[in-house]
Amino acid sequence: METEIIEINPLENARPFYQKAAELLASGGLTAIPTETVYGLGADAFQPDAVAAVFAVKERPSFDPLILHLSNARQLDEITEVPEALRETVDALAGEFWPGPMTLVLPKKGVVPDIATSGLPTVAVRVSAHPVMRGVCKALGHPVAAPSANRFGHISPTSAEAVKKELGGRIPLILDAGACSEGLESTILFPLIDDRGKPAVRILRHGPVTRERLRGVVRVLKNPRLPASGGEEDDERPAAPGQLTSHYAPSKPLILVDPKEPFEARPGESYGLISYKGDSPLARQDCWAAVISLSPGSGRLAEAAVRLFAVMRRMDETPEVDVIVAESLPETGLGVPMMDRLRRAAAQRV
Ligand code: TXA
Ligand code: MG
Repeated sequence: METEIIEINPLENARPFYQKAAELLASGGLTAIPTETVYGLGADAFQPDAVAAVFAVKERPSFDPLILHLSNARQLDEITEVPEALRETVDALAGEFWPGPMTLVLPKKGVVPDIATSGLPTVAVRVSAHPVMRGVCKALGHPVAAPSANRFGHISPTSAEAVKKELGGRIPLILDAGACSEGLESTILFPLIDDRGKPAVRILRHGPVTRERLRGVVRVLKNPRLPASGGEEDDERPAAPGQLTSHYAPSKPLILVDPKEPFEARPGESYGLISYKGDSPLARQDCWAAVISLSPGSGRLAEAAVRLFAVMRRMDETPEVDVIVAESLPETGLGVPMMDRLRRAAAQRV
């Protein structure tokens, strides 16, 4: 299949392109659509066959449900059944973080096909801040089901070129609006009533809306530990069904290291370093075939987050590098979702 790439400038007259993409979706087709987090692979959420095609194109296991994108928070009640006791919390979160990089998992209504939620009674929903995603949702008039536009387990695409490398030849259309402004997938929240009868959320996936920002709006519970790691709570281990230990993985092995510790290179192997600021003792070692800094000099986590996936891709595509070494990052604010992605990228594939 030929993959057409259309460059869109949302500030100019982009509506005919939203219309064209919506017609493709309405006919059961798929298109890649930019959002502020990563590019999504969109289908009409109300057409089970189109949703099935998303799973097939991504080679995604059927147990891993999709996120439904709305053009407006007012449509939330069309697809979800917000429990009365959570209404205030949901409204507060939507008011503060939508449109934006936050996803809410809520009880679903019957209009949402089971295949979109992998049979779960809940559905993940978000209102993207990207004018192209919102424009396509509006033109379609239905929610757009869109996982990240990569093959399952791979690094999420933050540019149209990255989508083309992942899915070129498998989908008919990519809408290209340049690089994503957040660079990490949305924060996924599960609103609930806790055992004291109070509203709260669990973080199912860390993302651009950090725990610190959430705490200004809602109580954030710690996540229960997975059975394998003992009974205690551990809020660094979010638990959306798709959050397999190995994920966001480059094709080369990736090792996560402490930038203050010396790195022992093995003879015959060639290493590329992903450094935070580029000025660590590690970055000054002479064993690197390539060094790329996430936020050169200044060390701003927001800049590092925007660049993380693109830099991982670049290292993956650098022929002189056999093994990728990444410096661990400070685990506050955006450092938390970045370390989540790096740990999964470092996990051995099973
Ligand atoms: O930023 C994003 O969220 C991007 C853009 C395209 O919107 N989308 C994205 O989708 O990252 P995806 O499919 O790569 O990740 C969706 C995650 C998966 O880990 C999935 O398991 C979880 O959302 N999820 C979906 N529905 C769920 C549900 N009902 N309960 C718990 N987790 C759910
Ligand atoms: Mg994904």
